[in-house]
Amino acid sequence: VTTAPVGVLVPAAGLGVRLGAGAPKALRELAGEPLLAHAVRGLRAASSVGPVVVAAPAADVEPVRALLAPYDVAVVAGGRERQDSVRAALAALDPAVELVLVHDAARCLTPAGVVEAVVDRLRAGAEAVVPVLPVADTVKQVDGDRVVGTLERASLRAVQTPQGFRRDLLARAHGLPVGHPHDAAAVLPGAAPPAATDDAGLVEALGVAVTTVAGHEEAFKVTRPLDLLLAEAVLEGRRRAR
Ligand code: CTP
Ligand code: MG
Repeated sequence: VTTAPVGVLVPAAGLGVRLGAGAPKALRELAGEPLLAHAVRGLRAASSVGPVVVAAPAADVEPVRALLAPYDVAVVAGGRERQDSVRAALAALDPAVELVLVHDAARCLTPAGVVEAVVDRLRAGAEAVVPVLPVADTVKQVDGDRVVGTLERASLRAVQTPQGFRRDLLARAHGLPVGHPHDAAAVLPGAAPPAATDDAGLVEALGVAVTTVAGHEEAFKVTRPLDLLLAEAVLEGRRRAR
């Protein structure tokens, strides 16, 4: 496990509703290229990354295969929820791969250093690893329009991807039978685990410890229209620095 290649699952099947009308988010353009191409190129810049499986919008599997042909990745159809897409990609990953990252296509400018930091901690023996950043805003709990509490900001972290896991643990967290993670028949609706907004949340629900490493501002998730402007600015900054 120490130096074995690490597999990466890339959920890219979302519609991008918060981005507004247009193509599915992974196919929206950034500096003349689809977001997903930026994301996969970024992963290929991390030397520890081995097999990559992309979960594409079901209607766009063929165009995504063509788009990603230069990067040697597998492309499968994603599902209705992000978790469904992650499970579909995991089921298609080479069964020999023991360490797995899950990385949002929407975090398309994530520096390779973040990927390597997660991998290093996994290879050092952690079962689950997440990159995090301190939170800038004060976060409150509300009930309707009424504030019911204020969380202590110093102890809060915003969580990014890639999130790294031992493969057997990720399979168990997603309700896939461990030992037969490549068995496509295992991806059954009834096997769905409880809802969580990230993969580490599913692992936490199993009572397994999750370790944090430093995230990066440029690993932000393209979510709203303003994020596209920010992404263009980051790319322009990188061009000038070259
Ligand atoms: N994702 C996926 N399958 C889904 C939903 C989301 O693979 N059914 C992926 C997205 O493509 C994205 C990542 O999960 O790379 C994070 O999701 P998010 O940022 O919420 O993207 P969307 O779901 O596309 O955006 P929105 O929620 O605004 O529709
Ligand atoms: Mg979403």
